[in-house]
Amino acid sequence: MSSTTAIGIDIGGTGIKGAVVDLETGALLSDRVKLHTPKGGRPADIVETVKSLLQTVSKNEGASGLPVGICFPAVVKNGHTMSAANVSDKWIGLAAEKLFEKGLGHPIHFVNDADAAGYAEGQFGAAKGVPGVVLLSTLGTGIGTALLNDGILVPNTELGHLQIDGVDYETRAAFSAKERDDLSWEKWAGRLQKYYSTLEMLFSPDLFIVGGGVSKHHQHFLPLLNLQTPIIPAVHRNNAGILGAAALAVKNRD
Ligand code: BGC
Repeated sequence: MSSTTAIGIDIGGTGIKGAVVDLETGALLSDRVKLHTPKGGRPADIVETVKSLLQTVSKNEGASGLPVGICFPAVVKNGHTMSAANVSDKWIGLAAEKLFEKGLGHPIHFVNDADAAGYAEGQFGAAKGVPGVVLLSTLGTGIGTALLNDGILVPNTELGHLQIDGVDYETRAAFSAKERDDLSWEKWAGRLQKYYSTLEMLFSPDLFIVGGGVSKHHQHFLPLLNLQTPIIPAVHRNNAGILGAAALAVKNRD
C-alpha cells in the first residue's frame, strides 16, 4: 500500500471501529472491523480492545506498520484526555496518547472523535470546499461537534453539552436518547429542532452536517427540521471518524 494509506480507529461509547483508509479518495481499503466498547469504558480495557482490533486490521495485505490515527469521545489536548462523558472518569487528565502508544507498541495520532469526523468531511465529504462556518454534529451515544471556518477546524468545541432547558442536551437529543426513550422520529425531531435552533442562534453557520450511524436514516428526521441553515447528512456517515483519524495521522507525520 502507498504512503497515502493509513489505519483509522474510532473509539465510541458503544463500539470501537477501525479500517485501512485510502487518503486520496477517503475510501476504506479493508473491511471495517467493529468490537464492543468494554463495559465501564476503563483505560486499560479500551487499550486492550484497540490492540486486538489493530492486530486484526493490520493483517490486511500491506497494512502492518502504516500510520495509525485514533479518535476518542473526549476533549483531547496535547495527547491528554480532559473529559469523559460516556467512558470511565479515569480518562480525565490521562496521558492517553502515550498510554495507547505503550500498549500498542506503535506511534499514534490522537484526536477527539467529532473533530476527526469534521476533518474527514472537510477533506473528502460534505464540507469539502464549503466556505464559511460549517458545524458538523454526530448523533450517537453522545453528541459530538466539529466547527470549521473556511475549512479550518477549531478543535474541542463540545457543543453536545450545551445546557438547554437546564440539562446537558446530549442526554435528550443524542441518538441514544431516542432509543432510551423509545421516541418516534417526529418526537426526536422536536428535540433536535430545539438543539439546532440554539446552535443556529449562537453560531449563524452556513451549513450543518449531521453524522453518526443514524445519519443513514436522515430522510426520517432532517426534513422535519425547520431551520434557516441548510442541514445535510455527512457523506461518510459513521466512517467519518475512521477516515479523519487516519488522515490526521498522516498529516501530522509529515
Ligand atoms: C463527548 C465528546 C464527543 C461526543 C461524541 C460527547 O459526550 O463529550 O467529546 O465528541 O460525545 O462521541
